[in-house]
Amino acid sequence: MSKATATACANIALVKYWGKRDAALNLPARGSLSATIDALKTHTTVEVIDAPHDELFLDGVQKSGRAVERITKHVDLVRAMVGRDVRVRVTSTNSFPTAAGLASSASGFAALAVGAARALGLHATPSELSVLARRGSGSAARSIFGGFVRMHAGDRDDGTDAFARPMDDVHVELVAAIAIARAKEKEIGSTDGMEHTRDTSPYHGAWLAQVDRDLDACEAALRARDLEKLAAVTEGSCLAMHADAMAARPGIVYFQPVTLWAIARVRALRAEGVPVFFTIDAGPHVVAFTEPAHLERVAAALSAHADIDQVLTSRLGGPAHVVGAL
Ligand code: PMV
Repeated sequence: MSKATATACANIALVKYWGKRDAALNLPARGSLSATIDALKTHTTVEVIDAPHDELFLDGVQKSGRAVERITKHVDLVRAMVGRDVRVRVTSTNSFPTAAGLASSASGFAALAVGAARALGLHATPSELSVLARRGSGSAARSIFGGFVRMHAGDRDDGTDAFARPMDDVHVELVAAIAIARAKEKEIGSTDGMEHTRDTSPYHGAWLAQVDRDLDACEAALRARDLEKLAAVTEGSCLAMHADAMAARPGIVYFQPVTLWAIARVRALRAEGVPVFFTIDAGPHVVAFTEPAHLERVAAALSAHADIDQVLTSRLGGPAHVVGAL
């Protein structure tokens, strides 16, 4: 096998990951819990080539420098596992605006892990693929699976037990409206943001202590299909993560004015009886989860601001998989 195409969806965490226990292996300090998002998809082809270096094409543009180094480092893991010293061309396209700072590293590294494993002949279980994806980006470990996914922090030093598992027995029909704010690319990426927060935020210990409680509460709310409890724990985890980052010195503020506007819109809808709740990653965009019958109303409400560029709507996504191999 020397060429394979894989696809993976991004995911949005309901209980957030913010803090690593090992930066080199990209091991999270705590677990997390996410929903896979169908509308945020990456398609990646990995092909063995006769060339001196790896090549990367992102959305039709050939990349150089740091972007290629990150890919090379990731494919090196697969090369070492299969003992093949070959170069690859990685051609990747996103179904959504990459520069907007949506979770493209999650779908990107999940698709790369699955595509590179198949192209280079690595036989890996889904858990092993989740570990591999995690090395590229912590949240990518969750994008190997569809639906609701729980990431386990593990406690082994080598990280072999730090992988995600799908919550296959949870069936809650949630859909998402993703309000993309008109904004420049984020100033501080999640890895730097997490390290700075861990080193300087007086709230970081309290944040870490809360994550385990939130994970159990979130899982219980999903199993009970209790949207009110799910809303409380999801919004709580999101705001606690941002409070932790804001309390760093100097503080990291990912919100824009329109982010606060969207939070207020979601809460106003909920007060009107719409089952809806929000979450926000390390950026200004607001993701609102609701039931299918209310999606149109939620999306329309979130569109009504000049600083919202567009609102994508989506159902939950499926697992990462190979779509073709030669
Ligand atoms: O996968 P990373 O290293 O980009 O970290 C993602 C962190 C958040 O998106 C902010 C939260 C999460 O759990 O996805």
